[in-house]
Amino acid sequence: MKNSIGIGVIGCGGMGRNLLERVLRQDPRLKVISLHDPDPRSIAAAHEKFGAELPVDTDYHAMLARPEVDWVMIASWNCFHKEQTLAAFAAGKHVFCQKPLAITFADCLEMERAWKASGRQFVIGFTLRFSPHYRKLKELLDAGVVGRIVSFEFNETLNFNHGGYIMGDWRRLRQFAGTHLLEKCCHDIDLANWFVASLPARVASFGGLNFFTAENAGHIGRLGQNGEGRDAYRTWRCLVGENPFTADKDIVDNQVAILEYGNGVRATFHTNCNAGIPERRLYILGTEGAIRANVLTGDIETQRIGFDTKLERVDSGANDSHGGGDEILARELAATMLDGVPPTVSLDAGLVSAGTCFAIDEALDSGRVVDATAYWRQAGLL
Ligand SMILES: NC(=O)c1ccc[n+]([C@@H]2O[C@H](COP(=O)([O-])OP(=O)(O)OC[C@H]3O[C@@H](n4cnc5c(N)ncnc54)[C@H](O)[C@@H]3O)[C@@H](O)[C@H]2O)c1
Repeated sequence: MKNSIGIGVIGCGGMGRNLLERVLRQDPRLKVISLHDPDPRSIAAAHEKFGAELPVDTDYHAMLARPEVDWVMIASWNCFHKEQTLAAFAAGKHVFCQKPLAITFADCLEMERAWKASGRQFVIGFTLRFSPHYRKLKELLDAGVVGRIVSFEFNETLNFNHGGYIMGDWRRLRQFAGTHLLEKCCHDIDLANWFVASLPARVASFGGLNFFTAENAGHIGRLGQNGEGRDAYRTWRCLVGENPFTADKDIVDNQVAILEYGNGVRATFHTNCNAGIPERRLYILGTEGAIRANVLTGDIETQRIGFDTKLERVDSGANDSHGGGDEILARELAATMLDGVPPTVSLDAGLVSAGTCFAIDEALDSGRVVDATAYWRQAGLL
């Protein structure tokens, strides 16, 4: 066993710092070797949190050339995930990379090939996979509480300030982030794929930008300011921080999708970035029962089909937008880094989630039902 594991950090923004702090807390043998981020504000914030003495590599290839770096943690904009992951594998490093895997399917496939050739570990930041809430749901489904899944609905509807943050940030432009579905909802799509345990076969979708447009900018004044004097829709701190209504953007703020899986299971998904009642809810119907769950409230309810059955509540002890997943992700990532414990979620899940998002967005853009199996054939999964 090594005395210490060296970590290089590529992307020291909000999420980069958040996860790094949790990971470092797990074990003193985990040490940061150097930082890379083009924005001096993120470097300054990382220096404040992790120590002003930490070296900064203005070129991340210099970080990758450091022999003390064993693991690279990538939390840059989504458009950089591919080149940084490929360079890290080429330098013999293990990689943690934030979701989504990449912003095109060709990039995802290239990453998968590089990963397989590298013999290195790869962990993807699908935080919800680590949440006790979703792990409990998977356990209930595998235990047959609903019988065989027949159909389900799921959603991710966002608080107005969260929506405003997305629409004023780098995430509003596909060239940096990919689509809204890919950037924000790839978690939910991943969970759906995991629960169904089959690949989507056909998908359809409608969506558009109907609220965060210049003519609706008056909603900021209508709602006024929060207790800290910050304007409605602009309360979340971020590095970019444009006006979410007037900033140029090419993502949608509402979208619905229909999926049919290879095993016949059908689902509908709904996202909206200006929700009066924010939800991350699932309602799964099977041959013998149903599950209804909302991670924001922590509620999980089940009911078997039958004359004398009752609605039962299951406690997973988790209720926030990530369902307590952040801390467990950090713990399990530390175990992978230190002891080589195989990760529960890796590049292949990132590829299937991203591919599902690309298929759904192809359906939205083309107005057609899309045969998603074309993606899986390209990936050699069918
Ligand atoms: N797992 C989760 O739940 C979760 C939550 C939020 C964000 N994320 C992901 O984390 C990543 C970062 O998001 P964030 O919320 O921290 O955004 P952020 O804007 O707070 O930070 C992004 C950082 O990346 C830096 N950056 C930009 N170009 C770069 C480059 N070429 N190389 C290195 N750094 C670069 C920016 O300067 C910034 O400091 C994204 O991929 C996002 O999708 C994951």
